Amino acid sequence: MKDNQTVILALHFGHDAGICILIDGIIKCNLLRERHNRSKHSFGINVDHIEEALLDAKLKVEDIDIIAITSTQSWELVVVDRPQELQLEYGEHPNKKFRSILYEKISNKREIDFKKHLDGEQIERIYSNNKKYSTFKYLFPEYKKVHKKDLGITKSLQDFAQIDLWKKELGLEDIAKINLRDLLTDKEQIENLFHFPMRITLKGKCIPGIAIQHHLAHAASAFYNCKSDQSLILTHDGGFYKTGPLNGMIFYGDSNKILPIVPHHLALGDLYDQVGVFLGFDLIGSAGKMMGLAPYGKPLFYNRDLVGNTYDLHSKGITNPRESWLLHCIKSAKLNKYDLDPIGNTNRILEPICVDIAASTQKLFEETLLYAVKCVSEMSLANNINTDTLCYAGGTGLNCPANSLLLKESPFRNIYIPPNCDDSGLSMGAAQYAYHHLLNKSRLKISQKSYLSLPYIGLKNSKNDLNNAIKRYENQINIEEDIDCEQSAAKDLHENKIIAWFEGRSEIGPRALGHRSLLINPSNPDNSARMNELKQREKWRPFAPAVLKEDVNLYFKGLPNESPFMLFTAQVLKNNLPAITHVDGSARVQTVTEETGGLYLILKKLKEISGCSVVLNTSFNGPKEPIVEKPDEAINFLVTSKLDVLYLNRKKITRKIKKI
Ligand SMILES: [Fe+2]
Repeated sequence: MKDNQTVILALHFGHDAGICILIDGIIKCNLLRERHNRSKHSFGINVDHIEEALLDAKLKVEDIDIIAITSTQSWELVVVDRPQELQLEYGEHPNKKFRSILYEKISNKREIDFKKHLDGEQIERIYSNNKKYSTFKYLFPEYKKVHKKDLGITKSLQDFAQIDLWKKELGLEDIAKINLRDLLTDKEQIENLFHFPMRITLKGKCIPGIAIQHHLAHAASAFYNCKSDQSLILTHDGGFYKTGPLNGMIFYGDSNKILPIVPHHLALGDLYDQVGVFLGFDLIGSAGKMMGLAPYGKPLFYNRDLVGNTYDLHSKGITNPRESWLLHCIKSAKLNKYDLDPIGNTNRILEPICVDIAASTQKLFEETLLYAVKCVSEMSLANNINTDTLCYAGGTGLNCPANSLLLKESPFRNIYIPPNCDDSGLSMGAAQYAYHHLLNKSRLKISQKSYLSLPYIGLKNSKNDLNNAIKRYENQINIEEDIDCEQSAAKDLHENKIIAWFEGRSEIGPRALGHRSLLINPSNPDNSARMNELKQREKWRPFAPAVLKEDVNLYFKGLPNESPFMLFTAQVLKNNLPAITHVDGSARVQTVTEETGGLYLILKKLKEISGCSVVLNTSFNGPKEPIVEKPDEAINFLVTSKLDVLYLNRKKITRKIKKI
């Protein structure tokens, strides 16, 4: 690499842990730990995964200028494999000083008293004994193999600096009336509240580090990848804090700087997750299932009185909104003679009580979010901020019907949500914040091409990976090379086969967007069930369509101009796409362009053959598995499942038929 380049390595240690490498502001790769250790949503960092990222970006440890760190709210920084090779401590590096208000406040104290929450015993207790949330064990699958004394754990930096405004009990209308002049009198101070200097020793080299607050990293992941260089930014996720900066914030992004304004004190993510748990889902994955379940019901329990942030509800005497919401649902259900027995039994999840609670909770989520965003807009206009863009990140950004409602009814004309708006995007956001805000580097122009290409920055497998995988399975597979794979894939789809499409770098975020996708013809009414069987998912869960962008209005209505990251819903106009049409006639649409890759050509060729340019697109993974990352995993899926054809980096692979 060139001497004058700026290299930032960013590590997100919380659940959905990840690694991002940025060179001169360009993202080289963004790798997720779950794809590396094959356990969904894993937290912690492996040194061998850092080595894989450096190799992918063609870098050495000596090339790294800064290491940016994030974690999940109050979780600690766990180095899973070789803690002696990655050591983290809080404090300034002699060669690099970042202004940090919290550091200035406490640097006169001899010892920095951060809390140490997650020790080995706690890990053991949570991950081996937790009966309530069985999926917790996937978060740290190494817990049995790693001795607690060998875990590299540093103390947690959870208490980033606060200002008086943030401690006030502000309802959403109070937030709408905030005068930013009061806040901006000390802009530089506020801009530097949410990061803290570190010294990080990686493989013997001490590198300047910077810890970045969780929601600031979310905000950065949206703002620096958005085409608009001025935006209000809202972040919100499933954190269990009811108030304050740890549960989500409103920020203002202008050019290369992000200014924290105020916490919104919403607790929607937690409420939504916990209603899912109440209905019988496990905590992890609860939100996605709730979103799929809600259209089966009617929002009969929705009550406008329960719309507001935590302080709005406190002012109405509601001290525990989540409990009050569930009590309200149950009380209404009893009055209306619902059978309450199915609650908690996922085998009876489609019965009226469960689906109506899900639909009502979805409606409460949507209306509360819309109200909050309207208040953000009001505040923005009152302070003469002229932008029609809202950047939005955090796990709640995956709620597609709510996103569509914002687009339809909020004053913001552009709602930008990155494809990795959940915690899997935090390392990317941390790296970009360090580069643009802390190093004061100009904002990069986001062209339409770079905007659409953003998802495809996962691992790039080598030719060796491909050849080794083929060699391993050579007795079980047939391979066709030098064929028109897109034409062949389109023909397979027309012949009603289930195909897997594996191409180049994997996509970031939780949704497959055409580089690690399972595809099937959406016009056959049996294909939703076939795909659910292949993936061993619940039969009632819906699937999403991918459609040529130029044809989207032929099949769907109510979408924004484009929906390349599958984050908005639309109504299906035609009745011949049963496998992607949800029970309420909606679909979560991905619009496909040339930047998507081979899927674009597949759809073009499918249109030539069948007249239809829509395909069912779902993530390429088996039950409870992360999306496949490597050729070996893809071929293993083929030989162990009912998948018909695998297209793997321009090779057509099928199973050999066993001779009887
Ligand atoms: Fe988050």
